[in-house]
Amino acid sequence: MWGGRFAEGPSAVMREINASIPFDKRLWQQDIAGSQAHVAMLGKQGIVAPEDAQTISQGLDAVAADFERDGVPVDYALEDIHMVTESALAEKIGPVAGRLHTARSRNDQVATDFRLWTREAMDEAAAGLKALQTALLARAGEHADSVMPGFTHLQSAQPVTLGHHLMAYYEMFARDRARLADARARLNRCPLGAAALAGTGFPIDREATAAALGFDGPTRNSLDSVSDRDFAIEYLTAAVQASLHLSRLAEEFVIWASQPFGFVKLSDQWSTGSSIMPQKRNPDAAELVRGHAGRILGCMTSLMVTMKGLPLAYSKDMQDDKPPVFEAHDLLGLSIAAMTGMVESAQFRTDRMRGLAESGFATATDLADWLVREGGVPFREAHHITGRAVARAEADGVRLDQLPIEALREVDARIDERVYDVLSVDASVSSRMSFGGTAPARVREAIATARQALEEEDQ
Ligand code: ARG
Repeated sequence: MWGGRFAEGPSAVMREINASIPFDKRLWQQDIAGSQAHVAMLGKQGIVAPEDAQTISQGLDAVAADFERDGVPVDYALEDIHMVTESALAEKIGPVAGRLHTARSRNDQVATDFRLWTREAMDEAAAGLKALQTALLARAGEHADSVMPGFTHLQSAQPVTLGHHLMAYYEMFARDRARLADARARLNRCPLGAAALAGTGFPIDREATAAALGFDGPTRNSLDSVSDRDFAIEYLTAAVQASLHLSRLAEEFVIWASQPFGFVKLSDQWSTGSSIMPQKRNPDAAELVRGHAGRILGCMTSLMVTMKGLPLAYSKDMQDDKPPVFEAHDLLGLSIAAMTGMVESAQFRTDRMRGLAESGFATATDLADWLVREGGVPFREAHHITGRAVARAEADGVRLDQLPIEALREVDARIDERVYDVLSVDASVSSRMSFGGTAPARVREAIATARQALEEEDQ
């Protein structure tokens, strides 16, 4: 397609290193859509005769049908999806196919195709995360009152509810979706018509092609249009952040599914066995979600480094923009779907959670707070007194609320019977009524607010 000035063809290695068709064939639908918008505009503007525009458009439909049925042919000689599509078009309609490339270049073409693809990837990730949020909400609703140990440093800290814990992830994924929406709004400008780098002398209508492809309008600067991939980087950064959140949820499942914790039994569908140890139920999917975060981060790094220091406008390095985006998309999609399945089908062992919450002196802070409130003791001193009570309970091998009142009064004479009202894990969680706190009443409110927010989005 560009061989006019060359006497010899490229070497085999040149062909291979130059070819993006093995991976950019994934852009075929976007490439057809971009070409359809372009040729309709060319016809309307009289840049191409309306009959020719119609022939080309019908030819593109036929090519799309072929690709749909047989897949995209991979031929290094044709380099990339743009050339493959155009040559397939020429086979269908003959030399008039050559008019399609008027007033455009592969540079604005690929920028357009890739934006369209990335826009869909953003929408797909947002929809997947929303389904995961819906699953989290449903499980949180079942467990608004289920007490579990809350951890800091993975040490039993204060009792919380499982519903509250799951809702924490709901919030993280809400922010991930907001990041995707922000990035989408910035992405949604159409580079088509920037041509190779400088714009074109043909009387094109960039507003029309932008609108036909669902963009908010054309990009403003032709050099920028063909040379930046920040929209893809923004998709990757949002994907990385979401995958980091997913990896943390995955890690919780790994910990919770371990025998010493036993907080969750993963369903058979989400467990694997060991080929040698018959008792094993391994949380492989959760471990892979945890691992995929690293690979997605690698994809982001790859594209950032590709773009670093490139002069304007297009350079061929930029052809390497696609593999990391495709890979991140595939890994993220799998990770979201796997976590959603695990959340939906997990069997939570609330008896185990409660047992551990009760055994870890998790209500020590409640004792300290009680001393502040009822005994007028400064918090620092209350903290110290409580430390002694914990030491006593530990020495006696009992829980805090099992220490007899005499023992507690030996620790500090200001303690009286009323303290038992706050020493149970249920009393502890119920008292955490501050906005955003773990009290079941607050958790139910948070769930109701979240449900309403999701419903309003659907309207
Ligand atoms: N396959 C190329 C890419 O993905 C298309 C753009 C080629 N442009 C060029 N001037 N060689 O970046």
